[in-house]
This record gives sequence, C-alpha cells and structure tokens, in this order.
Amino acid sequence: MSDIERTLSIIKPDAVERNLFEKISDILKKNNLKIEKNKKLQISKEEAAEFYKEHQSKPFYERLCNYLSSGPIVVMELSGENAISKYRDIMGATDPKKAENNTIRQLYGISIDKNSVHGSDSKSSAKRELEFFFNN
Ligand code: CDP
Ligand code: MG
Repeated sequence: MSDIERTLSIIKPDAVERNLFEKISDILKKNNLKIEKNKKLQISKEEAAEFYKEHQSKPFYERLCNYLSSGPIVVMELSGENAISKYRDIMGATDPKKAENNTIRQLYGISIDKNSVHGSDSKSSAKRELEFFFNN
C-alpha cells in the first residue's frame, strides 16, 4: 500500500563543508524523494542536545551534540512514498564502513560521527523533528 510520508533529513557539518548538497539532492531526486523545504542554519549545542535527547544516556551524546552544532547544517523536509524508510535505506548504516554500496553514508561518510546525514527513524520522530526545524 502506498503511503505518502514526510521526513526530516539533515546534511551534517562535514558534508556541508564539502559542498555535498547538490550531490545528495541528486540522489534524493533519483529516488523520487521531493525536497519540500530546505534551509541552511547553525544550531547551538543546547539545541543539538534537545534535538538528540533520545541519546542523552549514550557515551557518544556529548560528542554528537558538539559535532552537530560545530558548523552550518542543511535541514530538509522530504516527501514521497514511504519516505521515512526509503530515506533511511538511501542513507545507509550509521557507520559508513558498514553502509551498503552507493548509499549516501557509504559514498560520503567519513566516520561514525561524521556520517554526513541524519534521517528520521519513525513516523513519530519525523513529526517531532519536522516540528523542531520547520514549526509545522
Ligand atoms: O543516525 P542514525 O539514526 O543512523 O544513528 P543513531 O543511533 O540514531 O545515532 C545518532 C548519531 O549519533 C549517528 O548518526 C552518529 O552521528 C552518532 N553516533 C556516534 O557518534 N557514535 C555511535 N557509536 C553511534 C552514533
Ligand atoms: Mg537515529
């Protein structure tokens, strides 16, 4: 059954720094994911901590929040059929070394923390994360 969903994508600082927006958006378009909204911004460490609060007990939390707030990011609202799981597939595994061939993280990720992109992992997180960045 087709289900048109919306999901949040973030191009993380390592990928913005390398000007990968066009290359990543080409991959999205090829996979029928439409960029409904996008904006470039830099968030504070406190905002990163709020965004990633599900990970607050993890050993990598502090490093993750420092990293996401370390430079400009591009946030995008994507839409398409099964967009949430489709975009997770296109991103690839969290650790670029384990990511499938031709996924964004396999192509561009540097390391498990500098893994170039974020994507919502469920309908409820997509809703929360889109509200977080786009107030919608
Ligand atoms: O981003 P994804 O949903 O694939 O992974 P996550 O488990 O929700 O972790 C969020 C982010 O934390 C990852 O994308 C990594 O950037 C970072 N992380 C890390 O630095 N070290 C780990 N061992 C696991 C995750
Ligand atoms: Mg996650």
